[in-house]
Amino acid sequence: MRPSKDFFRPLAVGAPTPPTDIPARPSRAIHFFDPSNAKMAAKIPQMVGGVDVLLGNLEDAVKADNKVAAREGLVRIGQETEGLGGPDSPTQLWTRINSLDSPWALDDLTTLVPAIGHKLDVVMVPKVQGAEDIHYVDRLLAQLEAKAGLDRPILVHAILETARGMANVEEICGASPRMQGLSLGPADLAADRRMKTTRVGGGHPGYLVRQDPPRNELGVAEIEAPRSVFQQDLWHYTIARMVDACAMHGIYPYYGPFGDIADVVACEDQFRNAFLLGCVGTWSLHPKQIAIAHRVFSPSVEDVAHARRVVAAMGDGTGAVMLDGKMEDDASLKQCLVMVELAEQLAA
Ligand code: GLV
Ligand code: MG
Repeated sequence: MRPSKDFFRPLAVGAPTPPTDIPARPSRAIHFFDPSNAKMAAKIPQMVGGVDVLLGNLEDAVKADNKVAAREGLVRIGQETEGLGGPDSPTQLWTRINSLDSPWALDDLTTLVPAIGHKLDVVMVPKVQGAEDIHYVDRLLAQLEAKAGLDRPILVHAILETARGMANVEEICGASPRMQGLSLGPADLAADRRMKTTRVGGGHPGYLVRQDPPRNELGVAEIEAPRSVFQQDLWHYTIARMVDACAMHGIYPYYGPFGDIADVVACEDQFRNAFLLGCVGTWSLHPKQIAIAHRVFSPSVEDVAHARRVVAAMGDGTGAVMLDGKMEDDASLKQCLVMVELAEQLAA
């Protein structure tokens, strides 16, 4: 159940009211950068317009000694980078703050919102355990927005990366009208679940299904005979559960990080699985993952052309028609409309 709207009434007079309908803005690739890394920071201005989202990462992968420098670096980048962040920008500005049980999260928000709140589109909150974490961030943002005189609410995105967060996924999605979406955090989630993997996202060669053995003429199984093995997707259940929870609450699901930067083929496969299951985007940890994400999370020209043919053939949208030997009806029309709507949003 979504808590009542009154619960989220901003505490402070003048704070913007969070939207109930999250605007659809392309966010196929959320490109992570470390604002304390001077080399990475110097490349940010050239990336504006070339990627849907740039995310200044303050959490894991930033050394404890660099937390303050990363926060200050992000303020500088937000203030100085033309065209980055805000409602009309070609590239959104997001941040991943430190987790709420760390000594840095409060300072992250109290520093960023007054300094660059007008540019900041989304705050990604890691290691979210339940609705209470979102309520805390929501109330804090309302106060900080009111104090800073902001007229546009900053949205919230949660990373699903603890077993408890998984168990509470529906209440997290509905915890605030600020909720924009969820990302899978496969590395932390694997550790929290005590999975026996040592990688950041992607599959595992040991997680497989082997074809049944052939049987000889006496009906005895030939265990030693060569057999095909099929690698399975470790993340299928989690992504499907996340997609359902997001769809139920009208917010957006995302795949997360794919750590094997060199393996662009497996990266594309993992992203495509997430796209087909309903995700709208993913993280990019290296510039070469941006193009993969933009390509995979855009419907193909062929799929859109087919979807438009079905829409046209279905007339008033009811009944059934045959197209290329296949039956199309009200339900296949709805799938086609998802594809057409996405193509139109991306083209806008
Ligand atoms: C991302 O934060 C992850 O833990 O995979
Ligand atoms: Mg993590």
